[in-house]
Amino acid sequence: MKSKDESPAAPPSSPPVQFNRRHLLGLEELSAEEITCILDNAESMKSIFTRTVKKVPTLRGRMVCNLFFENSTRTRTSFELAAKRLSADVVNFNIATSSVAKGESLLDTARTIQAMHVDIVVIRHSCPGTPHLLSRRLNMSVINAGDGAHEHPTQGLLDTFTMREKKGRIKGLKVAIVGDILHSRVARSNIWALTKLGARVALVGPSTLVPRQFEKLGCEIHHNLKEGIAGADVINLLRIQLERQRKNLFPSIREYRLLYGLNRDRLRYAKPDVLVMHPGPVNRGVEISQDVADGPHSVINEQVTNGIAVRMAVLYLLSGNAGTAPATE
Ligand code: CP
Repeated sequence: MKSKDESPAAPPSSPPVQFNRRHLLGLEELSAEEITCILDNAESMKSIFTRTVKKVPTLRGRMVCNLFFENSTRTRTSFELAAKRLSADVVNFNIATSSVAKGESLLDTARTIQAMHVDIVVIRHSCPGTPHLLSRRLNMSVINAGDGAHEHPTQGLLDTFTMREKKGRIKGLKVAIVGDILHSRVARSNIWALTKLGARVALVGPSTLVPRQFEKLGCEIHHNLKEGIAGADVINLLRIQLERQRKNLFPSIREYRLLYGLNRDRLRYAKPDVLVMHPGPVNRGVEISQDVADGPHSVINEQVTNGIAVRMAVLYLLSGNAGTAPATE
């Protein structure tokens, strides 16, 4: 008889959906079915975390390269862990000590990595569209780990996964996203996933950071925090990018905190069982108070854990194994 650790991961509960994509560039181009397919596969991947041996041989012999032109703690580390848990080999490309510092172009750098027979490249870059460019010019699978203010698809997926795990559904939830929506790739990817899956999305912040143009994506716009979070099932707070203060998009950090900072008093306007989320890194005492960040409604650390499961699912599906659950050792 097989022990619990030897049994295969449970297959996704919904009928298998073919995931025929080679790249994950954004959630805008994915259907609701494809997003659900990734979330279902992530659920199977998460079941591996509680085993004694937290590793499956699904991607043995495959090579994943993390190519991050911007800083990262969560995304880079969790892609590395996700790849290792699927038994892939991982290379973390260090931009600072690479020949990029000598002026080597992005495409030449990527072509060099491809020549080393890498199968999947995970790229973060400040320029929107960089992953799309690489996907057109190279033979490797490309995963967007954040391109400028455009998209951060795996963050959108892990946020949606965490909401579905905690609330049992996405359809009909009221999700308030608070902060600098205009410059946020996290907000865009959340908006695409949540609206496609039937959530009600309320965007909250000053008019300079939450312009009316987002109504075209099917979102509500609120410039008053209490109105925006009223009756919310989920509040997803975005990092206030302190560097933007120089551009006069809001008067001061102090004023932002006074008008839009989430604290225990303001949390009462949302539903009693509201989830408080944040993609990180967190500015404690600015967009969120210390007690709410560490309080009973916060699922910030669970988002990080779920990020590994979601990234395992993405690596697995892109590597062409759609339709079969991962086997164990
Ligand atoms: N949420 C997120 O993208 O965090 P990192 O910048 O640490 O990867």
